[in-house]
Amino acid sequence: MTIKTSVSPISPVMATYSRFPITLVKGKGSYVWDDQGKKYLDFTSGIATCNLGHVPDVVKEKLEEQLQNLWHCSNLYNIPNQQELAALLTANSCGDKVFFCNSGAEANEAAIKLARRYAQKVKGTDSFGVITFQQSFHGRTLATLSATGQEKIQQGFAPLVKGFSYLPFNDIEALDQLKRLQPAAILLELVQGEGGVIPANPEWVKKIAEICEEKDILLMVDEIQTGIGRTGTLFAYEQYGIQPDVISVAKGLGSGFPIGAIIAKEKAAKAFEPGTHGSTFGGNPLATAAGVATVTHILESNLLNQVNETSVYLDEQLNKFKEKYAFIKEIRGKGLLKGVVVEINALEIVQKAHEHQLLILTAGPNVLRILPPLTASKEEMNEFTKALEKTFQSIEKGE
Ligand SMILES: Cc1ncc(COP(=O)(O)O)c(C=O)c1O
Repeated sequence: MTIKTSVSPISPVMATYSRFPITLVKGKGSYVWDDQGKKYLDFTSGIATCNLGHVPDVVKEKLEEQLQNLWHCSNLYNIPNQQELAALLTANSCGDKVFFCNSGAEANEAAIKLARRYAQKVKGTDSFGVITFQQSFHGRTLATLSATGQEKIQQGFAPLVKGFSYLPFNDIEALDQLKRLQPAAILLELVQGEGGVIPANPEWVKKIAEICEEKDILLMVDEIQTGIGRTGTLFAYEQYGIQPDVISVAKGLGSGFPIGAIIAKEKAAKAFEPGTHGSTFGGNPLATAAGVATVTHILESNLLNQVNETSVYLDEQLNKFKEKYAFIKEIRGKGLLKGVVVEINALEIVQKAHEHQLLILTAGPNVLRILPPLTASKEEMNEFTKALEKTFQSIEKGE
């Protein structure tokens, strides 16, 4: 039989992304190459996903080993890598039990379902509300876009899933509304990533944790962007002196192999019983092999100390730019999740950076988001600074 191929110049892939005119075909460490052989310094890390850089040897070896044995089996059977990854995640967090899925949105979806069942089956209430925050981002499924506090993500998808209320981020007084709302859970990002790289204020987070404890509301942190070492600790919540009931992770967990998870305290986890939630691919042998290799490497190596050092160095460099270029208003973020607030169109800067063989991101119209691999060396930070300086110069000259 002959295989039919399309000759149309129009892409058969749905137009859900505004793609840059770059086709990436290879990556190693902090670098990627396009189909023309052009090399770029990648300070996007696949949006906080390739935390160990591209094609890290430790993960590659573990995946190659697993490829020889078993690619997939149903969750009706025990999966050793899944048990091992769950043990690693619970031993190194405040959680006791893990549910595996395939993406960040699915992790938050699981967290939302768990919160409803906890309220209704464990606490015995009829509450199902989840409080989230303005400018948050929690995913693109119907429930997680309903949880997201940004209208632009929700437009055209009405009716939204019921039960979400959005309070202003970092606003202690607005927390008074929780008494009236009596939610089942609060879901928050400790650094709002997509919403503009805005770190949560520690006082505000402490207050939320106190209210959750007092009223038996589940405290759920969305660590899909901040987790797996991105902010200098395995999870960002460790820097806030809180013990969340549920942590959602994805992105960096598999070093680029699709995987998501929620890590929950026993108190919440027991709301899921056999048959209440599931996923065909969730925690499959390959995905959890990538997860085991990634988390083991982060914990066994000196990587988190390195992140804390390179983060300070990067801050110094970015602050020098702030002194030099009037269009830079603020440098913010945590660890290697940095935001540069600009008065001009951030997307134009990102596009200009491509000419200088540098990949960076935006987070909204006026924020540059910089996400180096956690493994990026000081030399690579210097290379980044040089490419960004050239980019800013071109922008200033109006080139
Ligand atoms: C904080 C946060 N939550 C959820 C998601 C959704 O993750 P995914 O795209 O894997 O569904 C993202 C993705 O950017 C995120 O940054």
